[in-house]
Amino acid sequence: MGTLESERLLLRPWRDEDIEAWVALCADARVMEFFPATVEGAESERTANRLRLLHERDGYGWWVVRTREDPAFIGAIALQRVPFEAAFTPAFEIGWRFFPSAWGKGYATEGARAALTFAFDRLELEEVVAMTATFNHRSRRVMERLGMTHDARDDFENPRVEIGHRLRPHVLYRVKRGAGRTSSEAP
Ligand SMILES: CC(C)(COP(=O)(O)OP(=O)(O)OC[C@H]1O[C@@H](n2cnc3c(N)ncnc32)[C@H](O)[C@@H]1OP(=O)(O)O)[C@@H](O)C(=O)NCCC(=O)NCCS
Repeated sequence: MGTLESERLLLRPWRDEDIEAWVALCADARVMEFFPATVEGAESERTANRLRLLHERDGYGWWVVRTREDPAFIGAIALQRVPFEAAFTPAFEIGWRFFPSAWGKGYATEGARAALTFAFDRLELEEVVAMTATFNHRSRRVMERLGMTHDARDDFENPRVEIGHRLRPHVLYRVKRGAGRTSSEAP
Protein backbone atom coordinates (compact mmCIF):
# COMPACT_ATOMS: atom_id res chain seq x y z
CA MET A 1 0.00 0.00 0.00
CA GLY A 2 1.31 3.42 -0.89
CA THR A 3 4.16 2.23 -3.15
CA LEU A 4 4.37 3.25 -6.81
CA GLU A 5 6.53 1.44 -9.34
CA SER A 6 8.20 2.57 -12.53
CA GLU A 7 10.70 0.98 -14.85
CA ARG A 8 13.75 1.70 -12.67
CA LEU A 9 12.29 3.11 -9.45
CA LEU A 10 10.15 2.41 -6.41
CA LEU A 11 8.32 5.29 -4.76
CA ARG A 12 7.62 4.00 -1.28
CA PRO A 13 6.34 5.09 2.13
CA TRP A 14 8.75 6.34 4.78
CA ARG A 15 10.84 4.23 7.17
CA ASP A 16 12.81 5.30 10.26
CA GLU A 17 16.13 5.47 8.41
CA ASP A 18 14.71 7.86 5.80
CA ILE A 19 14.47 10.66 8.35
CA GLU A 20 18.25 10.97 8.52
CA ALA A 21 18.53 10.87 4.72
CA TRP A 22 15.97 13.66 4.38
CA VAL A 23 17.92 15.76 6.91
CA ALA A 24 21.09 15.31 4.83
CA LEU A 25 19.19 16.15 1.62
CA CYS A 26 17.84 19.43 3.00
CA ALA A 27 21.21 20.44 4.44
CA ASP A 28 22.90 20.09 1.02
CA ALA A 29 23.60 23.50 -0.54
CA ARG A 30 23.37 22.18 -4.12
CA VAL A 31 19.98 20.64 -3.49
CA MET A 32 18.70 23.82 -1.81
CA GLU A 33 20.21 26.29 -4.31
CA PHE A 34 16.75 27.54 -5.33
CA PHE A 35 15.31 27.65 -1.83
CA PRO A 36 16.00 30.63 0.43
CA ALA A 37 18.34 28.56 2.62
CA THR A 38 19.38 25.06 3.53
CA VAL A 39 17.35 23.58 6.36
CA GLU A 40 19.20 22.01 9.24
CA GLY A 41 18.80 19.22 11.78
CA ALA A 42 15.77 19.36 14.02
CA GLU A 43 13.62 21.41 11.63
CA SER A 44 14.14 18.93 8.78
CA GLU A 45 13.52 16.06 11.15
CA ARG A 46 10.16 17.56 12.12
CA THR A 47 9.28 18.05 8.44
CA ALA A 48 10.19 14.46 7.58
CA ASN A 49 8.10 13.11 10.45
CA ARG A 50 5.15 15.23 9.29
CA LEU A 51 5.55 14.05 5.66
CA ARG A 52 5.70 10.47 6.88
CA LEU A 53 2.50 10.83 8.90
CA LEU A 54 0.68 12.48 6.00
CA HIS A 55 1.75 9.67 3.68
CA GLU A 56 0.56 7.07 6.21
CA ARG A 57 -2.77 8.89 6.54
CA ASP A 58 -3.46 9.54 2.83
CA GLY A 59 -1.46 6.87 0.95
CA TYR A 60 0.26 9.60 -1.06
CA GLY A 61 2.03 12.90 -0.42
CA TRP A 62 5.83 12.73 -0.36
CA TRP A 63 7.21 9.35 -1.43
CA VAL A 64 10.75 8.20 -0.75
CA VAL A 65 12.48 7.21 -4.00
CA ARG A 66 14.90 4.28 -4.36
CA THR A 67 16.07 2.34 -7.38
CA ARG A 68 14.95 -1.24 -7.91
CA GLU A 69 18.54 -2.44 -7.36
CA ASP A 70 19.52 -0.40 -4.32
CA PRO A 71 17.39 0.35 -1.25
CA ALA A 72 19.19 3.65 -0.53
CA PHE A 73 17.15 6.86 -0.35
CA ILE A 74 18.05 8.84 -3.48
CA GLY A 75 15.37 11.53 -3.25
CA ALA A 76 11.69 12.23 -2.86
CA ILE A 77 8.71 12.93 -5.09
CA ALA A 78 5.65 14.85 -3.96
CA LEU A 79 2.00 14.99 -4.86
CA GLN A 80 0.14 17.31 -2.52
CA ARG A 81 -2.34 20.15 -2.27
CA VAL A 82 -0.64 23.50 -2.84
CA PRO A 83 -0.10 24.61 0.77
CA PHE A 84 -0.95 28.31 0.28
CA GLU A 85 -3.51 30.47 -1.48
CA ALA A 86 -2.81 31.90 -4.93
CA ALA A 87 -4.70 32.71 -8.11
CA PHE A 88 -4.40 29.06 -9.23
CA THR A 89 -5.44 27.37 -5.96
CA PRO A 90 -6.98 25.09 -4.85
CA ALA A 91 -4.74 22.78 -6.87
CA PHE A 92 -2.57 19.69 -6.53
CA GLU A 93 1.12 20.01 -7.25
CA ILE A 94 3.93 17.60 -7.99
CA GLY A 95 7.48 18.22 -6.83
CA TRP A 96 10.92 16.59 -6.56
CA ARG A 97 14.09 16.76 -4.51
CA PHE A 98 17.02 14.41 -5.21
CA PHE A 99 20.61 14.02 -4.01
CA PRO A 100 23.02 15.39 -6.67
CA SER A 101 24.46 11.87 -7.09
CA ALA A 102 21.06 10.89 -8.56
CA TRP A 103 20.79 13.82 -11.00
CA GLY A 104 21.29 13.42 -14.74
CA LYS A 105 19.67 9.98 -14.92
CA GLY A 106 16.10 10.85 -15.62
CA TYR A 107 14.96 9.66 -12.18
CA ALA A 108 13.03 12.82 -11.27
CA THR A 109 11.07 12.74 -14.51
CA GLU A 110 10.42 9.01 -14.25
CA GLY A 111 9.30 9.26 -10.61
CA ALA A 112 7.13 12.28 -11.29
CA ARG A 113 5.47 10.47 -14.19
CA ALA A 114 4.49 7.67 -11.78
CA ALA A 115 3.06 10.26 -9.38
CA LEU A 116 1.12 11.89 -12.23
CA THR A 117 -0.34 8.56 -13.27
CA PHE A 118 -1.46 8.09 -9.65
CA ALA A 119 -2.94 11.60 -9.60
CA PHE A 120 -4.98 11.10 -12.75
CA ASP A 121 -5.89 7.42 -12.49
CA ARG A 122 -6.31 6.92 -8.74
CA LEU A 123 -7.24 10.38 -7.44
CA GLU A 124 -9.02 11.21 -10.70
CA LEU A 125 -7.70 14.76 -10.68
CA GLU A 126 -8.40 16.92 -13.72
CA GLU A 127 -5.19 18.92 -13.52
CA VAL A 128 -1.85 18.94 -11.68
CA VAL A 129 0.49 21.91 -11.40
CA ALA A 130 4.19 22.31 -10.61
CA MET A 131 6.05 25.41 -9.54
CA THR A 132 9.58 26.57 -9.05
CA ALA A 133 11.71 29.71 -8.73
CA THR A 134 11.86 31.31 -12.19
CA PHE A 135 15.51 30.54 -12.81
CA ASN A 136 15.53 26.93 -11.54
CA HIS A 137 16.03 25.69 -15.09
CA ARG A 138 16.84 22.13 -14.09
CA SER A 139 13.45 21.82 -12.40
CA ARG A 140 11.69 23.56 -15.30
CA ARG A 141 13.21 21.04 -17.68
CA VAL A 142 11.64 18.24 -15.63
CA MET A 143 8.25 19.96 -16.00
CA GLU A 144 8.77 20.29 -19.75
CA ARG A 145 9.86 16.64 -20.10
CA LEU A 146 6.63 15.72 -18.33
CA GLY A 147 4.67 17.55 -21.01
CA MET A 148 3.60 20.31 -18.64
CA THR A 149 2.96 23.74 -20.13
CA HIS A 150 3.91 27.20 -18.94
CA ASP A 151 1.81 30.33 -19.47
CA ALA A 152 3.55 33.52 -18.32
CA ARG A 153 0.18 34.83 -17.14
CA ASP A 154 0.37 32.23 -14.34
CA ASP A 155 3.72 33.52 -13.04
CA PHE A 156 3.40 34.54 -9.40
CA GLU A 157 5.19 35.66 -6.28
CA ASN A 158 5.57 32.75 -3.88
CA PRO A 159 4.00 33.95 -0.63
CA ARG A 160 6.28 31.60 1.33
CA VAL A 161 9.37 33.51 0.22
CA GLU A 162 10.22 36.90 1.70
CA ILE A 163 9.14 39.97 -0.34
CA GLY A 164 12.00 41.26 -2.46
CA HIS A 165 13.94 37.97 -2.29
CA ARG A 166 15.40 36.94 -5.68
CA LEU A 167 13.73 33.51 -5.31
CA ARG A 168 10.23 34.89 -4.76
CA PRO A 169 9.19 35.10 -8.46
CA HIS A 170 7.87 31.67 -9.45
CA VAL A 171 6.67 30.00 -12.62
CA LEU A 172 3.69 27.69 -12.75
CA TYR A 173 3.36 24.72 -15.08
CA ARG A 174 0.17 22.76 -15.65
CA VAL A 175 -0.81 19.40 -17.08
CA LYS A 176 -4.33 18.16 -17.60
CA ARG A 177 -5.52 14.59 -17.36
CA GLY A 178 -4.91 12.79 -20.64
CA ALA A 179 -2.33 15.34 -21.85
CA GLY A 180 1.41 15.13 -21.82
CA ARG A 181 1.88 11.68 -20.39
CA THR A 182 2.84 10.07 -23.64
CA SER A 183 4.90 13.00 -24.93
CA SER A 184 8.69 13.04 -24.61
CA GLU A 185 9.23 9.64 -23.06
CA ALA A 186 12.86 10.29 -23.88
CA PRO A 187 14.63 13.06 -21.94
C1 LIG B 1 15.32 19.37 -10.11
C2 LIG B 1 15.98 18.00 -10.12
C3 LIG B 1 15.08 16.95 -9.51
C4 LIG B 1 16.27 17.65 -11.59
O1 LIG B 1 17.01 16.45 -11.67
P1 LIG B 1 17.52 15.92 -13.08
O2 LIG B 1 18.32 14.71 -12.82
O3 LIG B 1 18.17 17.05 -13.82
O4 LIG B 1 16.18 15.61 -13.84
P2 LIG B 1 15.71 14.27 -14.55
O5 LIG B 1 15.54 13.20 -13.57
O6 LIG B 1 14.57 14.61 -15.39
O7 LIG B 1 16.95 13.89 -15.43
C5 LIG B 1 17.14 14.48 -16.66
C6 LIG B 1 18.60 14.42 -17.00
O8 LIG B 1 19.03 13.07 -16.98
C7 LIG B 1 19.60 12.72 -18.24
N1 LIG B 1 19.36 11.27 -18.45
C8 LIG B 1 20.33 10.32 -18.42
N2 LIG B 1 19.79 9.11 -18.57
C9 LIG B 1 18.46 9.26 -18.70
C10 LIG B 1 17.38 8.36 -18.88
N3 LIG B 1 17.57 7.05 -18.95
N4 LIG B 1 16.14 8.86 -18.96
C11 LIG B 1 15.94 10.18 -18.90
N5 LIG B 1 16.92 11.10 -18.72
C12 LIG B 1 18.18 10.63 -18.62
C13 LIG B 1 18.94 13.68 -19.21
O9 LIG B 1 19.71 13.85 -20.37
C14 LIG B 1 18.89 14.95 -18.38
O10 LIG B 1 20.15 15.55 -18.29
P3 LIG B 1 20.40 17.08 -18.71
O11 LIG B 1 19.41 17.91 -17.93
O12 LIG B 1 21.81 17.32 -18.31
O13 LIG B 1 20.12 17.12 -20.16
C15 LIG B 1 17.31 18.02 -9.33
O14 LIG B 1 18.17 18.95 -9.92
C16 LIG B 1 17.11 18.38 -7.87
O15 LIG B 1 16.77 17.53 -7.04
N6 LIG B 1 17.34 19.66 -7.55
C17 LIG B 1 17.23 20.14 -6.18
C18 LIG B 1 15.83 20.28 -5.68
C19 LIG B 1 14.99 21.20 -6.52
O16 LIG B 1 15.44 22.23 -7.02
N7 LIG B 1 13.75 20.81 -6.64
C20 LIG B 1 12.76 21.57 -7.33
C21 LIG B 1 12.28 22.67 -6.52
S1 LIG B 1 10.73 23.24 -7.08
